[in-house]
Amino acid sequence: MKLKGVRGMRDLLSDVTPAWRWVESEFEAAFSRYGYREVRTPIVERTELFARSIGESTDIVGKEMYTFQDRKGRSLSLRPEGTAGAVRAYVEHAWSQREPVTKWWYAGPMFRYEAVQAGRYRQFWQIGCEAFGAASPSVDAEQILLLDDLFRKRFQLPNLTLHLNSLGDADTRPAYVEALRAHLKGREEALCADCRRRLETNPLRVLDCKVPSCQPVLDGAPDIGETLSPQARAHFEAVRGLLDEAEVPYVLDPRLVRGLDYYNRTCFEFRSGDLGAQNAVAGGGRYDGLVRQLGGPDTPAVGFALGTDRLVSLIPEGLRPRPEGPTVALVAAGDDEVFRACFRLCQTLRREGVAADVDHRRGSVKSQMRWADKSGARYALVVGPDELERGEAELKPLRSDSRARRVRLDRLAEGILETKGGDS
Ligand code: HAM
Repeated sequence: MKLKGVRGMRDLLSDVTPAWRWVESEFEAAFSRYGYREVRTPIVERTELFARSIGESTDIVGKEMYTFQDRKGRSLSLRPEGTAGAVRAYVEHAWSQREPVTKWWYAGPMFRYEAVQAGRYRQFWQIGCEAFGAASPSVDAEQILLLDDLFRKRFQLPNLTLHLNSLGDADTRPAYVEALRAHLKGREEALCADCRRRLETNPLRVLDCKVPSCQPVLDGAPDIGETLSPQARAHFEAVRGLLDEAEVPYVLDPRLVRGLDYYNRTCFEFRSGDLGAQNAVAGGGRYDGLVRQLGGPDTPAVGFALGTDRLVSLIPEGLRPRPEGPTVALVAAGDDEVFRACFRLCQTLRREGVAADVDHRRGSVKSQMRWADKSGARYALVVGPDELERGEAELKPLRSDSRARRVRLDRLAEGILETKGGDS
């Protein structure tokens, strides 16, 4: 029986990895321009970390984690997201004592046992960042601008909308949650099974339920924006002001609540009209209470994560990088000795920084030429006993109408680079 991969966990093969690398390197460069430094935290953490940060009553912790016991009976989980681990590391290493403001970014696989569908996987990838130590609305805006710039300008994502909301502060939230619960009570029959449960555990989540029958129940529900404290309101207005100045379009979405419990004040999501039901490309927001909740000092914080799988799927066809062939494919037209000479030439070229390859199957010249063409190589260099004798060979362009050029074998790399420069 053939073995298959685990459902919801995809193989990213060599036809798509160039696009992934491009996305990752663009974000890496952007994070560096914005003053963020990379961290790598473990994929496995104590289950308790996620329960205490993301929240016991969330879908993620309640039903989507890959949780297991290690050999000593401790409960561990695969990380369903990156914020909890970053905060744990920030607290554990007393990082707040090293610098007043810390800006970190990370990238890697996350795991959630969700119903698998297009754009929703059980192992998926995130690129994210967290800024600790600054309460200013300018950090919230800075992160949104970083995403907006890359999404719209670099990756030219079509049909993108930024949803923005403020969840207020921990002290005004309970009153809002009660008002919402009061509105929903008495209308329970119309709610889906999940929302009936949420009514007790986490009524906020009813606000962004996607089940159509839940929508009418929300008509006339209290608006979270009206319960904001003056400070939270001012913070939100300042974030909006900075986005307006930068001409970043957004929609105010009082029903945006996010699926993790740690947020306060600003929260946001970039959604795409081209993604179907799983339309969020990135999400984030402020979580000023979490560092303290996990045993650290009182530290404001804000962050986001984007779904790399979803972002890559949205990049327009014409922009998507393809796997590249070697610059030159060496074709050995002769016996073993000729092949060995080609092999040596190939190695010299690679050492000198030129991408070169030989056909290790050692077929006929015709089949090596077919291989060269299929490999995507820019040039073929056919080397036979005569060429070796003369110390030069013809470099044939495979992808343009330019003429073939003679190059010296003892200065092959130079010859190729010169040709490349003049080749259109
Ligand atoms: P999140 O909204 O749960 O936030 O996830 C962020 C992004 O990860 C989503 O917008 C989506 O693109 C992608 N994503 C989530 N689940 C899946 C899945 N099953 N398959 C494919 N992609 C998925 C967080 O994780 C927060 N930690 C973000 C954050 C950082 N907030 C503050 N700092």
